[in-house]
Amino acid sequence: MKVRYLRVSLTDRCNFRCKYCMPNGVKEFIPHEEILKYEEIVEVVKAFTVLGVDSVRFTGGEPLVRRKVEEVVRGVSELPFIKDVSLTTNGFFLKEKAKSLKEAGLKRVNVSLDTLNPEKFSYITGTDPSSFYRVVEGIEEALSVGLSPVKVNTVLIKGFNDSEIGDFIKFSELYGVEVRFIELMPVGGKFFSHENFIPISKVKDYIRENFGELIPTTSYKKGPAKSFLVEGTKAKVGFIPSVSEHFCDSCNRVRLTSDGKLRLCLMSDRELDLKVLLRSASYSFEKLVSVLKEALILKRGINGISALESLGCSRKMFTIGG
Ligand code: 5AD
Ligand code: SF4
Repeated sequence: MKVRYLRVSLTDRCNFRCKYCMPNGVKEFIPHEEILKYEEIVEVVKAFTVLGVDSVRFTGGEPLVRRKVEEVVRGVSELPFIKDVSLTTNGFFLKEKAKSLKEAGLKRVNVSLDTLNPEKFSYITGTDPSSFYRVVEGIEEALSVGLSPVKVNTVLIKGFNDSEIGDFIKFSELYGVEVRFIELMPVGGKFFSHENFIPISKVKDYIRENFGELIPTTSYKKGPAKSFLVEGTKAKVGFIPSVSEHFCDSCNRVRLTSDGKLRLCLMSDRELDLKVLLRSASYSFEKLVSVLKEALILKRGINGISALESLGCSRKMFTIGG
């Protein structure tokens, strides 16, 4: 698959402490001087556009905790060849930031929301229950400034939010947002277990039995998620079977970590240090392009599932950005 999609982690820091992502006691973050500057990020994206990348998603940690995040959104949006700029956020700062992000060129946004109950939200994110309402207001603001589409990401955890699938369907209808159910992945510490894992197939069965058939929509074909309308409702749902389905063959993405490492596959620890190149005395744009070109050729030889088995994925999820 041709690589057209780059995920850029802006920071490994986050104002939330989701149980499945930042295991208790994460105290060490990447030092500030190791984090790519906005000019460096724009430079890397520009080099990627020469090689066919036209889509960028900003992730974290939480991308909106980085100061003046609009600047890098603008820098990337203004690059020739870039068609799509999106962002994945926990939504906490979205109410304040949605408008300026939209003005900077952001097209769309995915907001993580694992439960519709403020107390449970507080439990899973390690924040005050009031932050639940902030996130919902952030979603409303994103919609009202015209970020489109707005999608909600819901990581499924048995015994925690599997009782809320129906509520999420109603939420989707009410707000006109697509809710994407994501399988819990065995990364980020000890939270994952087979007892709290729910396969997407179960969720689909549940929706079909209790609501209606899942009618595929053809609107978005990128990535592993597929969108569906729930028959007889106005709800739109998506599914990310990150664990139960092998999607490596259709993988069209690479990842840039906040400390400037290019990751060719989420599951493989094979990384390329772009920061060293960017900051070296002999740096040139042409050299960067040729290094990236070789890296993309290398990517074709990597299959994530076997990479995971042979090497192990030792980086914490929040340093990669999902
Ligand atoms: N399993 C599944 N999804 C995860 N995310 C973070 N950690 C995990 C995990 N262990 C999700 C977040 C967010 C996206 C960036 O990745 O909930 O929606
Ligand atoms: Fe932060 Fe997202 Fe990780 Fe939660 S899942 S701690 S919001 S980076």
